[in-house]
Amino acid sequence: MNTDPKIGVVLGSGLGAFAETLCCRAETAYAEIAGWPRSTAIGHAGKLVSGRVGPAEVIVLAGRAHLYEGYTPQQVTFGIRELAQRGVRSVILTNAAGGINLNYRPGQLVLISDHINLLGANPLTGPNDDSAGPRFPDMSDAYARAYREIAHEEAAKLGLTLEEGVYAAVPGPSYETPAEIRYLRTIGADLVGMSTVPETIAANYLGMKVLGISCVTNMAAGVQRQKLVHNEVLECGARVQEALSSLLNAVIIRLSAA
Ligand code: HPA
Repeated sequence: MNTDPKIGVVLGSGLGAFAETLCCRAETAYAEIAGWPRSTAIGHAGKLVSGRVGPAEVIVLAGRAHLYEGYTPQQVTFGIRELAQRGVRSVILTNAAGGINLNYRPGQLVLISDHINLLGANPLTGPNDDSAGPRFPDMSDAYARAYREIAHEEAAKLGLTLEEGVYAAVPGPSYETPAEIRYLRTIGADLVGMSTVPETIAANYLGMKVLGISCVTNMAAGVQRQKLVHNEVLECGARVQEALSSLLNAVIIRLSAA
């Protein structure tokens, strides 16, 4: 049996390229994995890619399910539970996010230091299986400080600017209004997006450590003058993929040695 450390990576919108950089790749379409939630809305072409980065065994989820597609909170976290079952103890969650903090710029990578759950949903709602995790899991180090320190060190070595910020999760799919963005800034959010938080909750519940990386694909509504279009989010994602892939590589090697 392989006892190497396993690290999970979830790739967000427009950020799929890292999966193609893995060594010794094996791909499985989500549809072939028993129990994986069927796409109810958009034809979601997701796949699980396993392979290696240096000495580390890595499992990448390329494509995630969102609440706005009509999935339940339990369904959007199915992949996280699958990673746990496959022995993953450390997971890196990536996403595309709108920048609320005025110091940010499109194309920037930001470590998630904490989150605000405005989804009105939690993947742990319902009866609890005490053998899987606690009824009331602690969330005070939801994005592990130790992992963030490693990411900062590796970003510095690569010459990448890496800020930290609080991620607010909203249900979408409509983008926010300028008033909603002013509200989010007031309550302490630096980033806004429509994913990640259910996965972070489920991962912490299952005893995994989480590193969260947002790619600021656009400044949030009311900050930038032009209207928000999803294509811009995807295009900007495409531009930062190289930086993100180098950071992921470096961080994974460090995590596997930790
Ligand atoms: N708002 C919400 N989600 C997003 C955004 C945004 O501006 N950009 C990318 N994902």
